[in-house]
This record gives sequence, C-alpha cells and structure tokens, in this order.
Amino acid sequence: MSPDDVPILVTCGLPYANGPCHIGHLRTYVPADIYVRGLRKMGLDVTFVCGSDSHGTPIVVNAEEQGTTPAELVTRYHDHFDEVFRNVEVIFDYFGNTDDPSNHARTRSIVKTLMENGYVYSQDIQLAYCPKCDRFLPDRYVEGICPYCGSPARGDECDQGCGRHLEPGEIKEPVCKSCGNRAEYRRQKHYFFRLSAFKNFLIDYLEDLGGTSNARNYAREWVKQELRDWCITRNLDWGVEFPGKEGLVVYVWVDAPIGYISFTEEWASIQGADWEDYWRRNARIVHFIGGDIVYHHCIFWPAMLEGAGYTLPSAVVASGMLKIDNKTFSKSRGYVVWVNEDYLARGLHPDLLRYYLASYTSHTKELNFSWTVFGEKVNNELVGALGNFINRSIIFTIKNFDGRVPQGDLDPAVTGKIETIIEDTAAALDEYEFKKAVDIAMSLADYGNGYFQANEPWKMIKTDRDGCGAVLRNCLQIVKALAVLLEPVMPGKMQSAWKQMGLEGRVGDALFRDGLVPLKVDQPLGTPEHLFNKMDKSAIKELDVIFRERISLLAESEKSETKEMGIISFEDFKTLDLRVGEVKEAENIKGSDRLLRLTVDLGTEDRQIVAGIAQTHRPEELLGSQIVVLANMEPAKLFGVESQGMLLAADLGDSAVLLRPETKVEPGTGIR
Ligand code: MF3
Ligand code: ZN
Repeated sequence: MSPDDVPILVTCGLPYANGPCHIGHLRTYVPADIYVRGLRKMGLDVTFVCGSDSHGTPIVVNAEEQGTTPAELVTRYHDHFDEVFRNVEVIFDYFGNTDDPSNHARTRSIVKTLMENGYVYSQDIQLAYCPKCDRFLPDRYVEGICPYCGSPARGDECDQGCGRHLEPGEIKEPVCKSCGNRAEYRRQKHYFFRLSAFKNFLIDYLEDLGGTSNARNYAREWVKQELRDWCITRNLDWGVEFPGKEGLVVYVWVDAPIGYISFTEEWASIQGADWEDYWRRNARIVHFIGGDIVYHHCIFWPAMLEGAGYTLPSAVVASGMLKIDNKTFSKSRGYVVWVNEDYLARGLHPDLLRYYLASYTSHTKELNFSWTVFGEKVNNELVGALGNFINRSIIFTIKNFDGRVPQGDLDPAVTGKIETIIEDTAAALDEYEFKKAVDIAMSLADYGNGYFQANEPWKMIKTDRDGCGAVLRNCLQIVKALAVLLEPVMPGKMQSAWKQMGLEGRVGDALFRDGLVPLKVDQPLGTPEHLFNKMDKSAIKELDVIFRERISLLAESEKSETKEMGIISFEDFKTLDLRVGEVKEAENIKGSDRLLRLTVDLGTEDRQIVAGIAQTHRPEELLGSQIVVLANMEPAKLFGVESQGMLLAADLGDSAVLLRPETKVEPGTGIR
C-alpha cells in the first residue's frame, strides 16, 4: 500500500490500432483495471492511462492490403478500442493515440535529448532492399529465416520460433513481403540507441524493480548477457519523423512507450494537473503488459528514460499465457474470443468475463478459456454462492422486515471476519495476486451462506423475531462488504447490488473500509432482482458449438490453401510431439517376424511402442540406445499389442534405418 506518499500512475500496454479487441487484450487490461479500482478503494490517488499504438509496419501493411490509409485504419481501431474498453468497464482516465501531435512532440524531444547526451550514434548498415519494388524493406516488409533458431521469421521479430527481437539486416534469406521476390542487402546510414551503455544501470535498476517475478526474472537473465544497441530509425513515411535526418521515422518501439508520457501530459492538461509530477519527479509508475513485451519494458524503456532524464517505472506486471480451449491462442486458427462479436454481441454481461479472467488462475500463470468452464464458473460461483447469498438476504428482509434494515447488534465475529477479509484482499491486490484477492473476497459469500444456514432465520422468524432481525442485519452488512470488495472485479453487478441494498451514491466511490460502516437501522432496501442468471446447458453448448464451427471452417480453408502449396505451417509442425526416447526393453512379438515391442523412456513416462524393425534390428542391440519418437501418434493395436507412439526411421521399403540424436541427450528432449 504505497507508504511513500507519491502520485501513482498505472498504464496498460498500448493495443496496436490494427485489429479488433480480443480476450488476449483483456487478460492484461482487466486485471490492471481491477488493480486501479482496488488502489482507489484503499484511498490512494491513481491515474490510469492507455491509448492506441498507431505506428509501425504492420499497420502500414494492413492499410495497404485493405486499400485504405494508415491514418484511416488507425482512427477506426482507436475508436473501436475506446468503445470496447468502456463496454467492459475498463475505464481509463485518458485513452490517447501515439499519432497525436503531443506524442510526436514528446518523442522528438526525448530522441533529441538522447542524441545530446551521446546515446544515439549513426552507422552504415546493410538493409534488406527489394529491387523490384525499388525500396528498403523495414520490419514486416521482409520475411526470411531467424538467424538464431532457423524458424521462419519477420524482419523485426522471430514470432514463431525463439521470440527474439531482430535488428534490421539480421534476417537470413530475405524475401519482400509485398511482391514475394528475393530481396538483397544494400547499405544505408541509420541511427542506433546505445543500449549497451546501460548495462550497469539496468543491473542495479532490476535489483529492486517491483511487479511480477516473471518480468523481473527474465529481464535479469537478459541483462547478464550482451546488450545490443537498437537501430531506432526506419525507412517509412508513417510514424514520428526522426529529428536527425529527413525521410526516416523512429522505430515504433521508441514512440509507443513514450505514449505513456504524452497521454499523461494530455490528461494533466485537461485536469489542470502537472505531468512532471509523474515523469520528472518521484512517482510510482506501474506498467501492466503482456508477457511477450517484457524486454521492451524492462530493458529498452528504462534505459531510454534514464538516458533522457525521466522517472523510472517502479513495477512491471506481466500477464501469463492465454489458451483457448487448451490450445495456443491463435486468431488465424480461430482459437480466439472476439470481445464484441463473440461476447458482448451475444448479450453476455462484461462482469462475468471479468470475473473469469481474474479468478481462473494467478496473473502470471497460463489461463485457459473455454465456454464450458465459463458456464460452470457462472453457475457455481456467481449464481450459486454470491448471487444466492445476496438475493436470499435481501428477499428475506423484504418479506419479513418490511424491506428495511432490521434492528439488532452486529456480531463481532461477523465484523471481525469482514475486517480480516478486507485486509487480506487489499494485501493480495498489492502483490498483484488478483486470483487470491477475488477468492478471498468470494470466501465472504461462502461465510455469509454458512452464517445464514446455521442461524436458520426461516425457523427463527416464528420463534424469535428480534434475534432473526439481528441475523439479517448481519447478513446485510456482509452483502454491503461484498459489494465493496467485489466492485473492482464486477463494477456493474456490484453497483446493482448496492442499489438493491438501498445505498446512496456509487459503490465505485466507496472505500474498502466502508464495508465495515454499519448499515443504518430502518434504512429501506431497494427493489430486489437476481444479480446473476443461471446459464442453462443448451446456452453454453450453443456458444461452444459456434466456436467449434468457426475453428473447423478455418481449418478446412487452411487445409485447402496449404494443400495447394504442398506446405504446412510452423503451427502445424508444432502439433507433432517429437521427442528423443531411450529404449529400456525390447523383445520380439510372438507370431510376427517384422515387429518388435519396445519400452521407451520419454523422460516423463515410459511408453510401449511397436516398431516394424525386427528384420533389421535385434532386440538386445537396441537396449539403452536413443531413438526419435512421435509421441502423440494415435495409439494402434498390432498383433494384439498396443503401440503408443511411432518410431522414426528412414524407410527403405523392406528395411529401416533408425534416426538417432547425434550425441546422447536427456530422454524426453523435444525436437524441432
Ligand atoms: N502495441 C504493442 C503490443 O501490442 C505494445 C506497445 S506498449 C508500449 O505488443 F509500451 F510500447 F506502449
Ligand atoms: Zn528465432
């Protein structure tokens, strides 16, 4: 709970204004919004900014493909994100655009300062150039092979392989993305940010960087290795003009994070606040980002700020991976949930999704989304536990106590419980443990249900009306506390609970400790209404069916496309679970002179594999040797023996030559 009395700024990684909002965005933005609301409930003053990331080659390429201008495309998606964020109750104090004049100005000013301070130098480099298109090929305009891992990669990033950032000129076998022709390398003068000069600074800085351990730990590893200078200029006419030379723009990863500053400036000028309180003096800056951009935020960005004399971020909070139906998130293959099309447009309330995202797993772990789990969580946790308790407390009071808060003492056990839960929820939020915070808050609903059940007010009302009133008063106090505690997660639903309780104002403005402020006796309750509705099996099924149909449709069209080309994608290749195995047992299979039965150690388990190699290999000579296995081959029975994998060999018709690793490796080692 920020004891140091400094202003707090929270930001979210800027979405590229290049395509619609999906659940992957929300995995970062919803927890950030919960965090901001939570800090405000602790009485802290927080500013929350974000905006569109509007530059870079993907946007130019995309605009070209759609026959429009980058400016038009960016405006369209900027408005889209702005609207969707409001609709899912992610409420920024300012939602800017990196193409706004203020960001151009701030970026040019920072780059100039970096140049003055000696952190920018020029150098002639070899750049991919397409002779047919007669132009240099920045970033995505060039495709080829990653020099580090050999995967297919784009100019600036190995996004299908090792994930490394690639510098201009590094990609091997460059091909022009526009015309498909082989590109060549030509020399041109470019400008570099001297990242290497910041090694010692970064080592110290990362010592006490806050946030989640995933971000910090990765960054600490990287910084131990060589830090390479970054080329910060590009041959494009969309972006922030490089202040040192006409015809070049700055690399998008320079002007995008500077958006955090210029959006604060914009916000401050509207509010009459001073942006320098956040970026020039002592402040607490917290960046929420996706796990894929840790390098940019923990290495590149702090070095830039340090080099130009700005305030450094205090914390970087990185979200874990997202899976859809246990498959790697993929827009092109349909493993995605589009926030508008698949969710809001179906009439689903944003709070249900917010709850799912916050409570499924801890922030840094892998989160899986499936409609079945969604339905279960809604029905069991929201309807069954929370909604039920709130509803029964209010309805019982309306029926038996004239809809007014009954008289009676607050039970110290109940208030003590509320107090502990408030403290623990706040502490969990402070540690970026959002699941823990939600679980703790939700445990108060279980406690409430237990309390209701144990006191049996439906019996008590007949024998002890006053005692029953006291029980209900305690229940209603728990409801009030729940509304306050869960508002950061489900703002809309908790506002409705607040209203049903007959409470004035907005639960969004209440503090956590207001959950302990006793309800006034005789205060009238509002109109009761079920907060959450049960999703019936068929409704869940229908959502799941629509999702699956889209996947199979995309798979079909992909199949026919790739069939034509006779190639498979890297994604397809990755579906093969190829591993090194070590033969532990081998024997002939009775009745067959072709087959051997092997027991193979795959690291995590032993597998039985039937292989047609008996004519070329004797069982005893295989023992202890290493082979290559396709581990996710569909099991098959051969001569009554189940084969749980396939051994790889060069196929010579009636004999086989086994594939083996060049040197011995750990059994189970993956192959690609
Ligand atoms: N648009 C980038 C992405 O989606 C994030 C930019 S974050 C900023 O990966 F720091 F550069 F702003
Ligand atoms: Zn790579």
